[in-house]
Amino acid sequence: MPLDLILGAQWGDEGKGRITDALARQAQIVARFSGGDNAGHTLTAGAQHLKLHLVPSGILHPGVRCILAAGMVINPATLIEEFDQLEAFGLDVSPARIAISPSAHLITPAHRLLDGAEERLRGAPIGTTGRGIGPAYTEKAARRGLRAEELRSWSAFAPRLRSQLESAARLLEGIYKEPPPDIEAVMRDFERYAERLRDYVANTDALVATTLSEGGNVLGEGAQGTLLDLDHGTYPYVTSSHPTTAGALQSLGVGPSNLRKVIGVVKAFQTRVGAGPFPTEASEADAARLRGTGEQPWDEYGTTTGRPRRCGWLDGVLLRYTTRLNGFTEFSITKLDVLSGFEELRIAVAYRYEGQRHPDLPCTPAGLDRCEPVYENVVGWNADIRSSRHWNQLPPEARAYVERIERLTGVTAATISVGPERSEWIERTL
Ligand code: GDP
Ligand code: IMO
Ligand code: MG
Repeated sequence: MPLDLILGAQWGDEGKGRITDALARQAQIVARFSGGDNAGHTLTAGAQHLKLHLVPSGILHPGVRCILAAGMVINPATLIEEFDQLEAFGLDVSPARIAISPSAHLITPAHRLLDGAEERLRGAPIGTTGRGIGPAYTEKAARRGLRAEELRSWSAFAPRLRSQLESAARLLEGIYKEPPPDIEAVMRDFERYAERLRDYVANTDALVATTLSEGGNVLGEGAQGTLLDLDHGTYPYVTSSHPTTAGALQSLGVGPSNLRKVIGVVKAFQTRVGAGPFPTEASEADAARLRGTGEQPWDEYGTTTGRPRRCGWLDGVLLRYTTRLNGFTEFSITKLDVLSGFEELRIAVAYRYEGQRHPDLPCTPAGLDRCEPVYENVVGWNADIRSSRHWNQLPPEARAYVERIERLTGVTAATISVGPERSEWIERTL
């Protein structure tokens, strides 16, 4: 004991990486538990902005072991690229620091090609990141996926990889009428990847279990947000994994009795990348203000794809929903500073659905298109709050905004971040 989880409470990009980096100081292990390189987590340390896609956000802390857990899908090419960037940054990325679960699945170039082909064939594209995530999880569920443990023996892995590439080539050419992967080139690349990554594959379940039984602190770092969950999100506009408490336990291979905190990372407003319902999406003028122009590293443009994020007002109904799903024990509110300067802010406190007012989601998330938000207007504040380090230094209107979120959800905001820098946050003494 204890296991703490850091989960996205909205549609992703809430600032999970930054919060993980802040909390990793007290941890022995930081484990990424879901998704793949569809994730983009930005850490800011001084003038440096580190963009991570696969490596857990504990990597800046030398004493922390970073684990890529069983529920992940890993593109070896991206992982090696990330290792090289981190090494150039002066960080140790040896197997002494990083371990990969043998049960994690591998993404090949064929998965990426299939992701693109499937998107083009869909009547209504999801707007995936194009990283091959859906096809890799599809093969996992179909029990023909390639797993990290196979990197240990190239002679056994090679024919399985070739067979995966050949099947994908038949699909791509025959059904999708698209070009196949260059099989020989992929085989050559993967032989190198296997050589480079083999020693990282380790018994991560045992590492986590032993650390917990010895009283160490394990941080589970989520990727994506709860509303992108395959079962409970805005299906079909979701990802193919489970960025939830249940998903974390499943991926890490531990039971719920190990849990101490379930931290919901809540951006002070709402964003979404890709298609799908978004009841509180703001007018283009307000959305542009929330998004920023792209000049600041934290402006709302995708870390992975560079796409402008859709922006809107905080959705209290959906926050109550993701709180119920995950059992958040506390919130970490991020980007409160971005709201400075708005005369008036809006929070959705209920939905109007089939003529009635509902404080809770009145339908499945797939029905969100038919929900109209009922807004409460909240007075904004003008002061720049980035230098605030104590709750009492925040303008009363900013405190009232946070307290409104707490009343709506019954969850306390234990930390509030007021800028991307490590020092720019407030720890509440509660
Ligand atoms: P993640 O995917 O949940 O880790 O979030 P991203 O890294 O994709 O997006 C969050 C962005 O906001 C990053 O650029 C962070 O550096 C930045 N960020 C995090 N917290 C704050 C904050 O409190 N204020 C500001 N201005 N930026 C923040
Ligand atoms: P982090 O960890 C925001 C979205 C995509 C798309 C949908 C499906 O940085 O919060 P996929 O490639 O997963 O099949 O795409 O999910 N999506 C994200 N949006 N942040 C993310 O990760 C995301 N990962 C996937 O934009 O709508
Ligand atoms: Mg992100």
